[in-house]
This record gives sequence, structure tokens and C-alpha cells, in this order.
Amino acid sequence: MTQASVKSSVVAPPGAAVDHQKRNWIVATCAVGGAGVAAVAVPFVSTFQPSERAKAAGAAVEVDISAIKPGEKLTVEWRGKPVWIFRRTPEQLDALTKAEDQLADPKSERKQSELTPVYARNINRSIKPEVMVAVGICTHLGCSPVDKFQPGAQPSVPDDWHGGFLCPCHGSTFDMAGRVYKNKPAPDNLEVPPHMYLSETRLLIGEDKKA
Ligand code: FES
Repeated sequence: MTQASVKSSVVAPPGAAVDHQKRNWIVATCAVGGAGVAAVAVPFVSTFQPSERAKAAGAAVEVDISAIKPGEKLTVEWRGKPVWIFRRTPEQLDALTKAEDQLADPKSERKQSELTPVYARNINRSIKPEVMVAVGICTHLGCSPVDKFQPGAQPSVPDDWHGGFLCPCHGSTFDMAGRVYKNKPAPDNLEVPPHMYLSETRLLIGEDKKA
């Protein structure tokens, strides 16, 4: 298990994380950070035995979510992927029921990508209604969607927008539970990674069973 706060925890109010998200996560990892990361990380990683190295690469990440206020989002890294943890407001939770007929898979029953864990196959796609955990990678071609939490008419979303995420690459839109809208390039909802609560304020990303 690793502590998420060491490397990449970013508490950001709506909008403030846009610069971080605008980049394509995959491209940023491979093209921008790749050389630097390799140069720094290899001496450290090479001290591990292969089994230890594999274990570290797939390790679960423990996250303190106590500082995330309603309407805010925290981004942590797990297995090289950005994982979003956001605390929905009562209004954002209410909005989840307002556009179900516009969603491609409102009950998370399809299997185009990772199977949604059973505890997230509900309208909120979460264990606790207010706390959403999702991999922030578009299921189309892997861009990182940006926050569009503000409801209402605005560029690139419909006039009756209820808040959610926009993938700027090809225009896929997702609601505040990471559910993809119909007739968009993305074939599936955002992935919900395995996760579990260790306490009221501590979340473990990457595992959902007690050892
Ligand atoms: S990568 Fe998201 S819409 Fe194409």
C-alpha cells in the first residue's frame, strides 16, 4: 500500500484543476514526463527484486479524503492512471436522476471496458452516495475529460446540462457519476476502480477486500 499524498494528490475546487486535466494523461505520461521519470525512477526501482517491483507498480493507494469539501475533487495516481475522488453536493446528486434517458448505460450494465464493481452498480455509481471514485480517462481514446460541474448552457455542452465532464478530444460527455451520454464517441462509462473504506475518512484505491 502506498500513501497517495506523497506524489500526486491535488485538492482542487471546480475549475482550478483544468490546466492539470487539459493535457492528455497518457500523452503527458509518455511524452512529457517519460524521460525524466525514467532517469529518476530507475535507480530506485532497480533496488527491488522483480516481485517487489511488480508489487509496487500495482500497489493499492491509501487516500485521506477528509479535506475534500462538497463540490471539490481530488486526483491521485493509481497504476499510472489518474483517479478522481469527488464529493458531490446534494444538488449534484439530485441531478443524477434528471437525464437518465439521455445516458447510454445509466445502470452500468455494459461491459465494453472494465466491469463496474458490484458496489458501484447503482444510480450514484459509488459506495457512499456523495463520494464518487472514477478513473479520469475517457473510454474512447484515453484523453482526460475536464470538469464541467457548472449546470446550464455553456460552450460544448447542451443547454440543459446538469453538470459533469467533457472530453475535449472528440466531445464525449459524462454526468456527475461518470456515465457517458448517448451518441458520443466514448463507448462506455468511466471506469470505477476497485476501492474500499478503511475508515470514515480513509479510502483505499486498488483493493476492495479485507486482507
Ligand atoms: S478520447 Fe474522449 S471523446 Fe475521444
